[in-house]
Amino acid sequence: MLTRVLEPETLDHLAPDDPVAQRSRRDLRRVNAFMGARRILARALTRALGTERRAGLRVLELGCGDGRLLLGVARRCGERWPGASIDLLDRQPIVEPETIAAYAAAGWQARTLVADVLDWADDERVGARWDVIVANLFLHHFDGEAMQRLLAGCARRADALVACEPRRSRFALAASHLIVFLGANAVTRRDGVLSVRAGFVGRELGAAWPAADADWRIEEYEDGAFSHCFVAARVAPSPAP
Ligand SMILES: C[S@@+](CC[C@H](N)C(=O)[O-])C[C@H]1O[C@@H](n2cnc3c(N)ncnc32)[C@H](O)[C@@H]1O
Repeated sequence: MLTRVLEPETLDHLAPDDPVAQRSRRDLRRVNAFMGARRILARALTRALGTERRAGLRVLELGCGDGRLLLGVARRCGERWPGASIDLLDRQPIVEPETIAAYAAAGWQARTLVADVLDWADDERVGARWDVIVANLFLHHFDGEAMQRLLAGCARRADALVACEPRRSRFALAASHLIVFLGANAVTRRDGVLSVRAGFVGRELGAAWPAADADWRIEEYEDGAFSHCFVAARVAPSPAP
């Protein structure tokens, strides 16, 4: 098994308006499409929430980047989850007004939260709750105490967490060296390799989950060729406000 290695990714340290960063974020859309991230997340959401119709679903996406990834889910699942709201949290202010408008056109009310996720996790004043928190290519930025704080914040404020992360396998590592063929720039190519090295296998996320087993249904599994998924769903969800 590859040892997990966490190193800072370049994109996280580039200004939002840096053309290299903008290009890398466009690359990420292609990488997500290639990995089948939308379909993988839609399947994971169904595992967490079930298939029944549910109005007024409250969703929070952590490390949402440009915020577009869940648009496809909003468009496809509008019937199942009518009138949903989505909060898009990222440290960088990069969700464009057009993206918010596109969610509205799909029937979801979107708003942005510009914050460091650890501040969000630790902030006792955050009173809001969500039915489900989603993370894509995000949890692998953390380990140790920071991961514990992040997951504890999720367990306190939501009835489910759904994450789709890089799988730390030799196959995924080899593939990450080939994203040059998706037209990726140097930043995306470097970050792609680092992401796989910082990715997850087995029950690593479940082992870091802070809440009592009896209160949560935990699933951790591989999906697609490169993804490692984590679904935690509260056994008795909190009543709607
Ligand atoms: C690899 S990108 C993934 C973006 C998006 N989830 C996607 O799949 O396209 C990671 C994102 O996490 C954000 N990020 C990194 N560290 C963060 C932190 N401590 N708090 C909030 N956002 C963070 C970065 O700004 C970046 O947008």
